[in-house]
Amino acid sequence: MSTPAKKTVTNARKKATAPPTYANYIQGAWVASKNGEVFANHNPADTRDIVGYFPHSTAEDIEAAVAAAAEAYPRWRLVPPPKRAEYIFRVGEILIRDKEAISHDMTREMGKVLKETRGDTQEAIDMAYFVAGEGRRLYGQTTTSELANKFAMTVRDAIGVCGLITPWNFPIAIPSWKILPAILCGNTVVIKPAEDTPLSVYRFVKAFEEAGLPPGVVNLVTGYGETAGAPLVTHPTIRLVSFTGSTQVGRIIATQAADKGKKCSLEMGGKNAIVVMDDANLELAVEGAVWGAFGTAGQRCTAASRLIVHKKVIKKFTQMLVERTQALRVGPGLDPASEVGPVVNQDQLERVLHYIDIGRTRDKAKLLCGGTRLTEGDLAHGYFIAPTVFGDVAPQAVIAQEEIFGPVTAIIPCQDFEDAITIANGVGYGLSASIYTSDINRAFQAMRDLETGICYVNAPTIGAEVHLPFGGVKGTGNGHREGGVQAFEIFSEWKTLYVDFSGRLQKAQITD
Ligand code: UN1
Repeated sequence: MSTPAKKTVTNARKKATAPPTYANYIQGAWVASKNGEVFANHNPADTRDIVGYFPHSTAEDIEAAVAAAAEAYPRWRLVPPPKRAEYIFRVGEILIRDKEAISHDMTREMGKVLKETRGDTQEAIDMAYFVAGEGRRLYGQTTTSELANKFAMTVRDAIGVCGLITPWNFPIAIPSWKILPAILCGNTVVIKPAEDTPLSVYRFVKAFEEAGLPPGVVNLVTGYGETAGAPLVTHPTIRLVSFTGSTQVGRIIATQAADKGKKCSLEMGGKNAIVVMDDANLELAVEGAVWGAFGTAGQRCTAASRLIVHKKVIKKFTQMLVERTQALRVGPGLDPASEVGPVVNQDQLERVLHYIDIGRTRDKAKLLCGGTRLTEGDLAHGYFIAPTVFGDVAPQAVIAQEEIFGPVTAIIPCQDFEDAITIANGVGYGLSASIYTSDINRAFQAMRDLETGICYVNAPTIGAEVHLPFGGVKGTGNGHREGGVQAFEIFSEWKTLYVDFSGRLQKAQITD
């Protein structure tokens, strides 16, 4: 998902322009990359606007950050979890205070409309409150022993230094899903955000600094995947890698982590379907489909990129959907009138247009609206794509199988409920799915049979809440869940403790 679309520039060129230069955060200090290089972060709504310059970090910077995290770890793991939580509560308060400014910066660097970046920031605030509350609840078990005068229990133990790699589509929410449970569990972290959205994570890390978090517990290194992400994944001190991004990159990371025996948590692509049954409230289903497909310009792993519609209502649904889609106002995210912002960068623009082309030519699907880049007036300086709906799409079409990650959705006709479920499950991903129906039996059958980690009834495929587990099956993940208390399964190890108070040698399992 993250692609190096932004150019490396030298310090000399940077001086000729006004935008600020940001730094890495290592051992509680703001430092330039060791090679002094920076890269430019552009506003995708207007690429003439440079948001700032960020360290173009390499293995040397990762080395320093990992060393700082390793140094901080022995002391941090002994801080009681409720005390760790106090820092996290403070971070939540700071984010509330700075919500507007953070969201504004996020829209400027990433493109999605202000309403949504406010939601993104709010998700990090929610996560801070949720995780901090758990500081007094990191429950283990006390249990029986098969032997007399013996006590048995489990506690959660920290893992060590964690390497976190985060995407650009949820620039502060997803970093919060990783950093907060990681440090609550007593780990220290190095985060490498996507090169498209370093400013949001910079602001997040600033909040940790202001909250007084001890130096080295959270370290930030900006840069590209190949030069900064890769050395983080392979660094021998890193015990755990948590990655959100494309399935392709996730598989490479999983392989590298496996080779070094590291714990690895992956959150990857989706090809999420909304099923619309013949008894659905069509108004509601259309509204959900528009929000699910075009929110964040379709750049969500939970985006509704397939709409599987019962043949009895497909004509009406299609007409209503196209009408609503054509009425969407596309424009800069900072303009309050805009409903859909640009896609994040040039590569993403080309990728989405390429898929639209495949939809038209190879898949022979019916292009019902959109399908083009928008270039009128000031839009010419940004990466805007008209919200696109394809009709009559075959379940096996490329645009119905591959993750596009843009404002494109495919209407797939279905015969009946069973057919809908077969089509919905007939992809390599399994993150989110939804069904619109007024039949309670159908709703429960769908919840049972849809092969996804998240399932919605009469709501779109997006909108997960932080206190519930988030993640998927098949090509979407590798068995982990973020969010909820389930996130602690990633960021802690179980330690099993036996205390024998019999005063003699007792042997489990041995009877004679
Ligand atoms: C993602 O798309 O990568 O449920 C995360 C949602 C958001 C999170 C999406 N709360 O759509």
